[in-house]
Amino acid sequence: MITLSDKVIGHISLSKKRTWHETQIIIGDKKYWGKGYGTEAIKLLIKYAHKLKISKIFLEVRPDNIRAIKSYEKCGFKRKRIIKYSENKHLPETLRMELKK
Ligand SMILES: CC(C)(COP(=O)(O)OP(=O)(O)OC[C@H]1O[C@@H](n2cnc3c(N)ncnc32)[C@H](O)[C@@H]1OP(=O)(O)O)[C@@H](O)C(=O)NCCC(=O)NCCS
Repeated sequence: MITLSDKVIGHISLSKKRTWHETQIIIGDKKYWGKGYGTEAIKLLIKYAHKLKISKIFLEVRPDNIRAIKSYEKCGFKRKRIIKYSENKHLPETLRMELKK
């Protein structure tokens, strides 16, 4: 959970996918977007992952989600490739980003 003065404003996760770990983050209420809270949460998660000797983290993001992509780049993630999900009408493609220690 991502909390701000004891109020839950979002969540972040890290799950094992073969030799990589995937992270996902959502800050629910728009009024908390663009204030650096998500970026701070990702940086904390990365620090914790490195303590656990997790060195390869990826995520997938909508290619037009500029705020998210900027946030991930500030945390060190690199743009890798576009992944197609042609059967998924709502999310036909994502951008895969990776962070390797
Ligand atoms: C994506 C998310 C985690 C980013 O966290 P955040 O705390 O809002 O990110 P930041 O405040 O650090 O902003 C990141 C950058 O985007 C920029 N930004 C903010 N609003 C923007 C907008 N509307 N358009 C473009 N860039 C924007 C900020 O200026 C910042 O860049 P800077 O530090 O160089 O100025 C958060 O916004 C969120 O949860 N959004 C909704 C759900 C979502 O999109 N999840 C990701 C799914 S993959």
